[in-house]
Amino acid sequence: MSMNAAQQTMHFENVVRQEWTNTVTVNAWDRWSAQQAVHCQPLTDRLIEHAQLRNGLKVLDLACGVGEPSLSIARRVGPSGSVIATDLSEGMLGVAAKNAADAGLSNIVFKTADAHQLPFADRAFDRVVSRLGLMYFWNIEKAIAEIHRVLKPGGVASFVVWGAAENNEYFGTILAPFMQRREMPTPPDDAPTPTRFGDTAKLIALFRQAGFSEVHSQEYREVLPWPGTPRELYSHFYDVAAPLQPYIDSFDVQVQAEVLDEIEQAFGRCWDGTHTNAAASFNAIYLKK
Ligand SMILES: C[S@@+](CC[C@H](N)C(=O)[O-])C[C@H]1O[C@@H](n2cnc3c(N)ncnc32)[C@H](O)[C@@H]1O
Repeated sequence: MSMNAAQQTMHFENVVRQEWTNTVTVNAWDRWSAQQAVHCQPLTDRLIEHAQLRNGLKVLDLACGVGEPSLSIARRVGPSGSVIATDLSEGMLGVAAKNAADAGLSNIVFKTADAHQLPFADRAFDRVVSRLGLMYFWNIEKAIAEIHRVLKPGGVASFVVWGAAENNEYFGTILAPFMQRREMPTPPDDAPTPTRFGDTAKLIALFRQAGFSEVHSQEYREVLPWPGTPRELYSHFYDVAAPLQPYIDSFDVQVQAEVLDEIEQAFGRCWDGTHTNAAASFNAIYLKK
């Protein structure tokens, strides 16, 4: 029996909540958080560039995970500014709070919040940001309406999402050997997958309809410097990419071992002795209310 639209949305919500609140995923994000901050720094840099930050601004980070870009933004807005870092996963927020304390940052407040129902007043923020969060919002229209509501007039929002898988050496190198053996099932429209907004046309149209005065989207293809070996890059990818685990787990253990050897060999071209430097495609979306 096929699901109607409301059932489909509810199903996506359950999947997302399960993926990002389970202890195995939260522990993996904790374990890899230092390396991941380095790896995804180019995404943070672009997000910050388009957010037009300055001292004293009040910034809302949606789906902050274990703390980036909140920590980088807290440094950028200085002690007179503040970051409200939110996520639906209390486990992720706990790790983020620990990372902020370790970094000596006191201008970040952590709050559990679902992006579809933000516990904040209208026009409360100068900026709203999210790095690699929008793809998982199961009712993107509703989340966009909330972003619009909590932004001050003239305020700026800045987001980064993964680009299309086919332009992505990082994802492609890992997934190609699996996909040569068996295609990944095509997800239904609007399914909360990492590359859901590889094409940003629909997202851009929704932001325009929500009443933002300026809406921009720009694709980047940049090297992400993973501070470790190709094998560690794969282990990290598997551990943190909760939505892709069911596909990878569907292969026999022996096939997974074979694939890992192939991935390691393929990433050899990216290994410089300290870092594995594979290029990734990502989209920056930035808006003005
Ligand atoms: C790929 S992680 C990104 C985390 C972090 N922003 C980063 O770039 O490393 C996705 C995050 O989105 C959060 N998330 C998913 N749906 C959400 C929602 N509706 N409201 C708030 N957070 C959500 C998850 O709990 C998870 O921490």
